[in-house]
Amino acid sequence: MSQAEEHQGTRRDFLYYATAGAGAVTAGAAVWPLVNQMNPSADVQALASIRVDVSGVETGTQLTVKWLGKPVFIRRRTEEEITEARNVELSELVDGEARNDNLGAAPATDENRALDENGEWLVMIGVCTHLGCVPLGDGAGEFGGWFCPCHGSHYDTSGRIRKGPAPENLWVPAARFEDETTIVLG
Ligand code: FES
Repeated sequence: MSQAEEHQGTRRDFLYYATAGAGAVTAGAAVWPLVNQMNPSADVQALASIRVDVSGVETGTQLTVKWLGKPVFIRRRTEEEITEARNVELSELVDGEARNDNLGAAPATDENRALDENGEWLVMIGVCTHLGCVPLGDGAGEFGGWFCPCHGSHYDTSGRIRKGPAPENLWVPAARFEDETTIVLG
């Protein structure tokens, strides 16, 4: 595949993800200062920071956006999902690390993974930590969270690996609320 075709593919995927969800995605105001034009992923690097409008995301649904070449799941969780995630003992977890880029090393409590204090919003890189497939969401799998059909990894409602070959919880990227309806990734 030529670089041009690759670029086309990436752009199409990005638009697909951006329009498939209810929210709109715009490139961040902070422009990556030095983009190497010869680098095939230059278009991706230009989006090192993106703003995601989550005003249209209903409780119990998930928006998927593409960021740095990877899908990012932005889920607005139900009370049940939050309660379930917060009732899990750390001793029940396969991976005890929060895997949250906003925190550094920390225990994998749901409080250490959710974006907001109430736990309504969960933002994760949508890439299975086994071999990189994109897990299915919307309550999939035995733990009501996400399920990776490639080799059968089950993640709970906090995106923590509970069963199957994946070694780590789904990663939480650098993210923050810019205002009530805008999440900034990166
Ligand atoms: S890639 Fe997800 S279980 Fe193997």
